[in-house]
Amino acid sequence: MSQAPARSLQIESSARLSGRVTVPGDKSISHRSLMLSSLAVGESRIEGLLEGEDVLATAAAMRAMGATIERSEDGIWRVWGVGVGGLLQPAGALDMGNSGTSTRLLAGLVASHAITATFVGDASLSKRPMGRVIDPLSLMGAEFTSSPGGRLPMMVRGLCPAVPIEYTLPVASAQVKSAVLLAGLNTPGITRVIEPVPTRDHSERMLAGFGANLTVEASNRGRVISIHGEAELQPQQIVVPGDPSSAAFWAVAASIVPGSEVTIANVGLNPTRAGIFTALRMMGADITEVDPRTVGGEPVADLIVRHAALKAIDVPPDLAPSMIDEYPVLFVAAALAEGRTVARGAHELRVKESDRIAAMKDALQACGVTVEEFDDGLAITGSGGEPIPGGGTVASLLDHRIAMAMTVAGLVARRPITIDDVAPVATSYPVFFETLEQLAGRA
Ligand code: S3P
Repeated sequence: MSQAPARSLQIESSARLSGRVTVPGDKSISHRSLMLSSLAVGESRIEGLLEGEDVLATAAAMRAMGATIERSEDGIWRVWGVGVGGLLQPAGALDMGNSGTSTRLLAGLVASHAITATFVGDASLSKRPMGRVIDPLSLMGAEFTSSPGGRLPMMVRGLCPAVPIEYTLPVASAQVKSAVLLAGLNTPGITRVIEPVPTRDHSERMLAGFGANLTVEASNRGRVISIHGEAELQPQQIVVPGDPSSAAFWAVAASIVPGSEVTIANVGLNPTRAGIFTALRMMGADITEVDPRTVGGEPVADLIVRHAALKAIDVPPDLAPSMIDEYPVLFVAAALAEGRTVARGAHELRVKESDRIAAMKDALQACGVTVEEFDDGLAITGSGGEPIPGGGTVASLLDHRIAMAMTVAGLVARRPITIDDVAPVATSYPVFFETLEQLAGRA
């Protein structure tokens, strides 16, 4: 996947946002639905799949390892899997583009198959640490050759049969948890992951939904997840709920643009993902949940968000795992709040698609916001609801969430904010700017 040419964009301030929007399918669930469908024998159908570049990288990789994956004109994806243990040797390198989730989860799948795969990615992904999956998967018997510092390009030589392990996560990472559980699918015996701090549980829910023998227990060491290997997965009909991480941009935009009222339909509200809505409510956001229901085994509701006067908070560090991808846009909410918001305990932000602590500090400062940087977070002095000065040029650093968060900031800035490259938005939210035009009444 070649890197898209840079596309700079100037964001003007906006009048009230109003209307009803549907956010694209959840990125985490979309990746997992393609992977597990590719390992079931028979035809699975996926409705609402996120058709962003990251998920398309996963689809291409699963095809390269033998699955048949097609999109029908009605938008339903059909997958014919090869069975657990049936992945084939890919002919060429697997291009992961910008996607850490694809890379780490697929490394787990390859680790317990008798195949070798080489993973490559864009400049952002090539800087991100893979040691966190190399360590446990090596214990299971896979062999890795990576670039210095445990980076891409990385070659994984799987072992079949692999060795089951019990692994306590040293970092709160759903990707690492999922990599080990996916490796455990084709490993004889019981593979166990202990997570001292709960992270998103989509893998556990979906593995159980596909018929894997998986148990989750609470213990004094944390959540203990056990998977019985050499599983047989049954094909499924999957409906992917809307992505709360994408909904978060509209929740913040509606909260900070005066006069706004936006309905965001079909938002996944899995408690391991919904921390941003808790934090925004603590700040005084006006968010109403309507029609709570279950979609694809996940809690979902429509959200009505109205403009509100936000106040600064100390963001509870224990919310971090359930809103880890939402800090950039939370920082924008903080820039419009009354008082000084302090968000700490989020060191993991340093190793996302960009160093999101440094990226957001630089971006907000360039727009005239007072920001203090810590090793594990930021303190932001808000404007009390007045527009921020704006006028700056912001580097998105191949990070979709920096580009989208600073677009939201641009809606309430005195002078336009220029974003040097908004092309990365296509990794997770290809129609983001069309939806913005619709909400601003310009579509
Ligand atoms: C993800 C887990 C999180 C998150 C990422 C998606 C997943 O990463 O930031 O966007 O789908 O498992 P970590 O596992 O690195 O926390």
